[in-house]
Amino acid sequence: MMIYLDFAASTPLLPSVKKELFRAFEEEYANPSSAHKLGRSSFEKIEEVRALIAESIGAYKSEILFTSGATESNNLAIKGYVLANKKKGKHIITSSIEHKCILSICNFLEKEYGYEISYITPKKNGIIDAEEVIKAIRSDTVLVSIMHVNNELGTIQPIEKIGQACFEKDIKFHVDAAQSYKKIAIDVDELNIDFLSISAHKIYGPKGIGALYIRDLRETRIQAVIHGAGQEYGLRGGTLPTPLILGFGTAVQDQTIENSFEEVIRMNTLLREKILEIGGVLNTPNTNSIPHILNIRLPEFNASHFVAHSDFLCSQGSACSSLNIEMSYVLREIGLDFISANQSIRISLGINTTFTNLELLFK
Ligand SMILES: Cc1ncc(COP(=O)(O)O)c(C=O)c1O
Repeated sequence: MMIYLDFAASTPLLPSVKKELFRAFEEEYANPSSAHKLGRSSFEKIEEVRALIAESIGAYKSEILFTSGATESNNLAIKGYVLANKKKGKHIITSSIEHKCILSICNFLEKEYGYEISYITPKKNGIIDAEEVIKAIRSDTVLVSIMHVNNELGTIQPIEKIGQACFEKDIKFHVDAAQSYKKIAIDVDELNIDFLSISAHKIYGPKGIGALYIRDLRETRIQAVIHGAGQEYGLRGGTLPTPLILGFGTAVQDQTIENSFEEVIRMNTLLREKILEIGGVLNTPNTNSIPHILNIRLPEFNASHFVAHSDFLCSQGSACSSLNIEMSYVLREIGLDFISANQSIRISLGINTTFTNLELLFK
């Protein structure tokens, strides 16, 4: 029997999402840009999902764009904004523990366009000091991009404080919320967020669909990353994938923040206790972290062997880089050496995790 403990990498579909996907793949085949009745009907349903996503983060429907997932949203937000606003400056602030895609985008901008990037390193507990970010702001800073929740550690970053500083200094603020959306309440106005990336497959929706929130989308200069036939305000070409969007909508509607949150906290507490009992170390701090992600280290443990062969399905580092033998840069940034990193795994809890399953881990 396999026990899935890798919900931060991806989630199974909610039954209601699966049902909606089947229905939509069967019935919603028209092009939603078509002028006929069937196309218009799909278009209207897509617009309802757009409104639902907007409402879930305190935004306007006209500020939501569909993408293929958080990677694409991050690309569009960062490349799209900075390349359209080169005159404002060529300095970007981010952190050294962002998702690999953010680091790749920044590397690309550095190499190809001569941008300067300040990578803020986290404190030893995996939390970025907002003051460090604020100190790094310069007169030519054009964008700050900081993730809400770190995917390897589960640490929650001080988004509100950073957002406030960016607002005061009139600098755009991008937040990768792939790991926080639907786990932590997000209000883009309260947090002063200008761009927010989300992904359906982290919230029990289908893979291949996500969204980007862009504050004042129509008034903001953004360069398209995918040039196409004018869809999504000309910023993201391609026929909209109606079934995926409707499945995403069902996940947004049915996966509420309250869903079993208390239960996940209790499971996280149990895991922490058991791991300490057997001489393990917690790489994820007790405070300022979401209960769904726990990164742990066990002495004399071969994490890569465990991940490859165990029936407990966890990750070592992040999912996309776990096939590499390179050590996790996130663990390195919080001070772990190669050996300690290779004794560490990420356990992530989700909708069908049970106490019984977790107890089996220690048998
Ligand atoms: C923080 C973070 N950003 C971005 C991504 C990429 O998301 P997607 O698979 O939707 O492109 C992930 C997924 O691993 C993530 O955890």
